[in-house]
Amino acid sequence: MNVLSIVRRATGIGWQWKAFIPVIGVLFVSLSVMTVVVYRHNIPNKEWVILGAFSFGVVICFLLLAVLLVLVERPLEDLKRTIDRVRRDDLTARVEFARRTDDIGQLGRQFNQMVEQLERNRSEIEELHRREMGRAEHLATLGELAAGLAHEIRNPLAGIAGVVDVMGKELPADSPSRAVLVDVQNEIVHIQNILNDLLSYARPRPPTFHPADLNTTVEQAVLLARQQVRTRPIQVLYTPAPNLPMVVHDPALIQQVVLNLLLNGIQAIPQQGTVEVDLSPEDNGVLVCVKDNGRGIPPEALAKIFKPFFTTRKEGTGLGLSLASGIVQSHGGTIEVRSTIGQGAQFRIHLPLLPPKVRLPKGAGPSGE
Ligand SMILES: Nc1ncnc2c1ncn2[C@@H]1O[C@H](COP(=O)(O)OP(=O)(O)OP(=O)(O)O)[C@@H](O)[C@H]1O
Ligand SMILES: [Mg+2]
Repeated sequence: MNVLSIVRRATGIGWQWKAFIPVIGVLFVSLSVMTVVVYRHNIPNKEWVILGAFSFGVVICFLLLAVLLVLVERPLEDLKRTIDRVRRDDLTARVEFARRTDDIGQLGRQFNQMVEQLERNRSEIEELHRREMGRAEHLATLGELAAGLAHEIRNPLAGIAGVVDVMGKELPADSPSRAVLVDVQNEIVHIQNILNDLLSYARPRPPTFHPADLNTTVEQAVLLARQQVRTRPIQVLYTPAPNLPMVVHDPALIQQVVLNLLLNGIQAIPQQGTVEVDLSPEDNGVLVCVKDNGRGIPPEALAKIFKPFFTTRKEGTGLGLSLASGIVQSHGGTIEVRSTIGQGAQFRIHLPLLPPKVRLPKGAGPSGE
């Protein structure tokens, strides 16, 4: 065993010995010096003096051991036991030495406060989880109910639309009722859109994946959005990504997502402005960025906009973004939002080239290999 390993072993011994050994060392050296001095000066009753001094040393050592035990060892054991219980998920565990009034007691109190905080945080998280679960179940039931209702309403509504159409055709060209009928027809289209949204929210269709050009998919959405703003001073700008590899996606669904974002951007512009869509390649994926310079989203609304039925628009259903995020997730992608109030909003969709868990027939991969 070389010196290094002895030193290593020595540093590996318990802290009690590390504290104790120097004391024993000093005591031993002082007693040895004292013995030499006693013998050199031929002090009378030297045996008794040396015995007395040694006894004194032994008592000091015991006292020191007792102090170490009471002051440090017990709290340490208590702390170890409590940490163990906390680790086993028992957050009611507390250290007892927190009652002491010294520094170690203060350490104990701080430790107990930390565990109390952990306990509080955990019960808050559990409460939140319970509420979210309840909400999810509630939404699922609501979704089913809405889907059933939507089905029931759609057929009679189609009948009403037909009748209104016939009435419109039979009215004389100069009849003032024509304007009212146009309003009725617009409202019917509005209700039909809401019903369609509700149905796709309650029963989203699973994506049909195949490799396709994402530039084209996005361009289709841009063309549709431009139709909506033909008569308004709003520009819809589009920058495709050059040399983009094929992206495995459902073009109809992704087009719906981008169109939703574009329409939201357009609806957020009070007068004139621009909505921009950029595509850019990323590591194993593509980033689709939809940006507008409209009124922006207030910070308190940012956390809610992806939740179903959250809307600030009179004629909105609040399902657009919740549907969009569901579709992006079904593609293995993510959607995020940034916004500065008064300056606009930016939605960023990250799509993988190949959604996870999607298996394509041989030779139909993203790059057509
Ligand atoms: N680009 C944007 N700028 C400002 N606010 C936005 C933007 N996009 C979304 N929002 C806010 O998020 C809300 C939810 O949007 P979402 O698309 O889900 O529903 P909606 O547009 O209100 O209704 P619809 O179901 O017809 O889409 C909007 O009502 C609006 O307050
Ligand atoms: Mg919308």
